[in-house]
Amino acid sequence: MTVNHPNFGKIADDRVIVFDTTLRDGEQSPGFSMTLSEKLRMAEALAELGVDVIEAGFAIASNDDFQSVKQISETIKGPVIASLARCAAPDILRAAEALRGAERKRIHIVIATSALHMKYKLQMEPDAVIERIQSSVTLARSHADDVEWSAEDGSRSDPDFLCRAVEMAIKCGATTINIPDTVGYAMPADMVRIFADLKARVPGADGVIFSTHNHNDLGMGVANTLAGMAGGARQFEAAINGIGERAGNASIEEVIMAIKTRPDAFPYKTGIKTQNLLKISRLLSTITGFDVQPNKAIVGRNAFAHESGIHQDGMLKNALTYEIMTPESVGWTKSSLVLGKHSGRNAFRSKLKELGFDAIGDNELNDIFARFKDLADRKKTVFEEDIIALVDESFGRDHERVKFVELEVRSGSKGPAHAALTLEIDGAVASAEADGDGPVDAAFKAIRILFPHEAELTLFSVGAVTEGTDAQAKTTVRLQENGRLVDGQGADTDTIVAAARAYVHALNKLLVKRERSEPEALSA
Ligand code: KIV
Ligand code: ZN
Repeated sequence: MTVNHPNFGKIADDRVIVFDTTLRDGEQSPGFSMTLSEKLRMAEALAELGVDVIEAGFAIASNDDFQSVKQISETIKGPVIASLARCAAPDILRAAEALRGAERKRIHIVIATSALHMKYKLQMEPDAVIERIQSSVTLARSHADDVEWSAEDGSRSDPDFLCRAVEMAIKCGATTINIPDTVGYAMPADMVRIFADLKARVPGADGVIFSTHNHNDLGMGVANTLAGMAGGARQFEAAINGIGERAGNASIEEVIMAIKTRPDAFPYKTGIKTQNLLKISRLLSTITGFDVQPNKAIVGRNAFAHESGIHQDGMLKNALTYEIMTPESVGWTKSSLVLGKHSGRNAFRSKLKELGFDAIGDNELNDIFARFKDLADRKKTVFEEDIIALVDESFGRDHERVKFVELEVRSGSKGPAHAALTLEIDGAVASAEADGDGPVDAAFKAIRILFPHEAELTLFSVGAVTEGTDAQAKTTVRLQENGRLVDGQGADTDTIVAAARAYVHALNKLLVKRERSEPEALSA
């Protein structure tokens, strides 16, 4: 049966709606918060990727979330823009207000339906939850034709009660019914059964789209998403790189490539341009400062690397021996234009484009290019990974209040290490010196002298960007202040300079966070 949807019109039975929640569920997870301009950049890339729905935020959670839903609604054309709201009038009205400028909009409302959540979290009787669904779906429908209703902890809800709740949501005009596996507890067979059961038992089920939303606590996010579709769901909710609460959400790139690679098992159509997957994954890593692990499916650095001799031999004879999809189909390119100190700005810009960084403004490009030239002077070969590390480090930093200028350190086996550091703070250049227990400690102490703050350093890690002793070090610094958590990144051939840069980056992120109001905990 073909569903007639207010935003998508007649939807064929094999069409799957891709609902992206990177900017809501993804952004909600610790360390992944993004600024407004970063969210807008991601939203543009998501539209380019071809997602059908962008969940732009949770409008009532904070002023920042409201602004993000509002600005994405006003600027991004193509996808439907959604805002999350609890089943409560103030939430729904705030979401409606934030979505006002959207070409196509959706209000997404949520309330918990499991016995556990209703009793302890909501402290509501099941009948009161049903009444709340009735009033809130009705209210949401008076502000938007497209209303999604979600049963939080749906996978652990009593099947009969879930049928009652879904029936009420449909009766009051919900157009999409989402059954999340909120805590990542379900197994694929559960998901097939849940959707098949709802579709068979609930009156009006054939006139709405069912949606599957899966968390990854047991590593089942993608499997459960595919199982949800097998059970009849025709929308899936997922995030780029699988980011999201706790262990994350299902990863969009993995679900999409499973559908594309195994049409025999998953005969569905989406509007996703798979060649954009790597690009958007990198953009998100750059914005958040979190790289995906090397062995991450589809977008990890090793996803298409063949190390063993037997595999390489097979690949040379016929790539199909070890490759179930081509690297090009998800955006990896073969060409490796080597850049060196004589490369010009244009060649550098095209390399950035090839790596997926085509939204870099002129000022940013100038900064990154200057650092590239400096690196090319110091390093024999500049690899793609080096350039990615430079972009990661410079991305979106032209408005930062604190800027790294210069660092000199003295260290060794005798005595304390010493650091002499220069920073630019709000446009004024200042220097300080400090001794420390090793050069990193000395450099961090000098930063605290120049910009006093109470944040606690909770993580410091160092990795090499490439191989060789002249490789750049890539460092991460995590700072924590009043429950706020930020990660900063730095890259340099000098490990201590990379560490100082990472610290300065984290500090700037903290300053931005201090200005933002904290989102309320989501209690649906
Ligand atoms: O995991 C969940 O239950 C959610 C809902 C808000 C849809 O993210
Ligand atoms: Zn979720």
